[in-house]
Amino acid sequence: MNEAIEAHLQETRTVPPPEAFVRAARVADRSLHEEAEADFEGFWMRRALTEISWYREPTESLDASNPPFFTWFKDGELNLTYNCLDRHVEAGGGGKTAFTWIGEPGEERVISYAELLAEVERAASALKALGVGKGDRVAIYLGMVPELPVAMLACARIGAIHSVVFGGFSATALADRIQDATCRLVITADGAWRKGAIIPLKDIADEAVAQCPSVEHVLVVRRTEQDVAWHDRDTWWHEAMAEADPRCEPERMNAEDPLFMLYTSGTTAKPKGILHTSGGYLLGAILSHRWVFDIRADDVYWCTADCGWVTGHTYVVYGPLANHATGILYEGTPEYPTWERHWEIVDRHKVTIYYTAPTAIRALIKAGEAAVQMYDTSSLRLLGTVGEPINPEAWIWYHEHVGGGRCPIVDTWWQTETGSVVLSPLPGLSTTKPGSAIGPLPGMKPVIVDERGNPVPIGGGGYLTLQRPWPSMLRTIWGDDQRFVDTYWSRFGPTVYFTGDGARTDDDGDIWLLGRVDDVINVAGHRISTTEIESSLVGHPAVAEAAAIGAHDEIKGEHIAAFVILRDGNEPTDELRGELAQHVAVGIGKFAKPSLLLFAPDLPKTRSGKIMRRLLKDIAEGRELGDATTLRDPAIVEAIKADADRQLGRA
Ligand code: WTA
Repeated sequence: MNEAIEAHLQETRTVPPPEAFVRAARVADRSLHEEAEADFEGFWMRRALTEISWYREPTESLDASNPPFFTWFKDGELNLTYNCLDRHVEAGGGGKTAFTWIGEPGEERVISYAELLAEVERAASALKALGVGKGDRVAIYLGMVPELPVAMLACARIGAIHSVVFGGFSATALADRIQDATCRLVITADGAWRKGAIIPLKDIADEAVAQCPSVEHVLVVRRTEQDVAWHDRDTWWHEAMAEADPRCEPERMNAEDPLFMLYTSGTTAKPKGILHTSGGYLLGAILSHRWVFDIRADDVYWCTADCGWVTGHTYVVYGPLANHATGILYEGTPEYPTWERHWEIVDRHKVTIYYTAPTAIRALIKAGEAAVQMYDTSSLRLLGTVGEPINPEAWIWYHEHVGGGRCPIVDTWWQTETGSVVLSPLPGLSTTKPGSAIGPLPGMKPVIVDERGNPVPIGGGGYLTLQRPWPSMLRTIWGDDQRFVDTYWSRFGPTVYFTGDGARTDDDGDIWLLGRVDDVINVAGHRISTTEIESSLVGHPAVAEAAAIGAHDEIKGEHIAAFVILRDGNEPTDELRGELAQHVAVGIGKFAKPSLLLFAPDLPKTRSGKIMRRLLKDIAEGRELGDATTLRDPAIVEAIKADADRQLGRA
């Protein structure tokens, strides 16, 4: 442990960039930032030409003629998989490990770039044999098995648009996403391992596909090997692979052709298919991955995210592969079979860069230092976090106990919509502060504004906006341009991207994220809209009205509290409570299950009929109740509070 640094940190709450990084970092001064400030279009264009292997080089950088429908490098032609695989193999780098995959039961598979390319070519041929072609949508519903990145890349190779749906989503949620994108093919598995048990992915997919007439085929990876029901539309992955043409030339794609969509929660019940295109997205992935993680040829890089989320897209698959990095792919969760699992993997594989979510760090803290101390984590040189604000206590623990006081921590702020990291310290340049995402990567222009869109002075807080287009930005919401405009580009005008997050700066101008300012809850780094939970609850016959809120949670950041008004004739029993929570788990997914469900005679509303969420939050968090004078019926709050106190044992 580096005691001098820890002492400095305790005293000043800052950590200067370590000497070792300053000397050799990928970004060690502000020249990139300055170059981008002088001419951001030229900045991105020069890098697009050198970082990406094009079939046809673009002649134009940004097209901003029709805001907010910005495009980048629009006459360029490329293929993502050529950039992630073929070019490395052609340059003699085929023997390098692309992924070491570790299964939850413990098996391991080392996959080189040459092997990954061979698998992707076969899989791409198999997709073609099933009639999938350029522009077709493919839903991928898998656990973290090697076939997941292979399937994504196979789609990219032939120009099909992938929509990865996290394996924790329910049949209803999967069906909604398949229908919205009218997918022709679903790629799933018999099951996924989850804490020693099997999640029956195929059964869930079958239930979903039964409601999806667009689906012609289901391709099934064999993983957990239990018996599964079989239909005419089903094909085993391994059989399709065995028969497939081992060669598949990459499709020439336009820079603005869609690469993937990924659904994310908005403020309504209907999830949004965030659409990313090819050239700009790839450039954002390559550069941010290199700048933020200071990636080098001999790094062993582990991003613990599931490919079901955007972090798994950009920082497990596209960024690292395009940079010819070596990654760890782990199937399981940090707590199974014990909380030592991650540290054992770090030790055995000599992981040098570890990138995870604050919720995982807080859970690891709770499990205790002993688990980390059992293993040698001295191979680590850089740590990262993503997905939610990290509390300074967790940051300091991470720094001290995992990083041994030596490793810079990059707190990376970004979104499914931004495609790649927007705000983050750079490890060889930034003085970090526990809890701060510091500032923009080169080329990005974050501006914190007030209600009216005016920039707030240094030291102030407000809404986080991005006021300059960037290559990996979302292009639209699938099938709903108007919603794209309304959600992101209306509040402050068509050239100001509204993030939905609150932020403030400190006196040094460094940025601190304050969480969502809309009705989105962030549970363990997963975005869920309150409306989505509410509409699931009112879909139950016993429920008349519901309000869901995010309440503070020590581990998950936020947990879901739901307030329910029953229809006449229903009794508020514990049994019904359990049934309603289960109803949400089945409707959306287990991770969206309310952990606190309270029956209320009515919801606290203002005289104008607005639900007072602030009061509900006070109740769920066990605080003294705030001002209730504007309430229509103050007695309601007391009644709900009594139920809350009883359930939380706060008599
Ligand atoms: C939150 C995940 C604070 C934020 C990449 C954002 C963060 C939402 C951070 C996007 C961070 C992500 N600090 N908050 N470092 N990173 N967020 O689309 O509220 O799953 O809007 O993308 O997560 O979540 P998404």
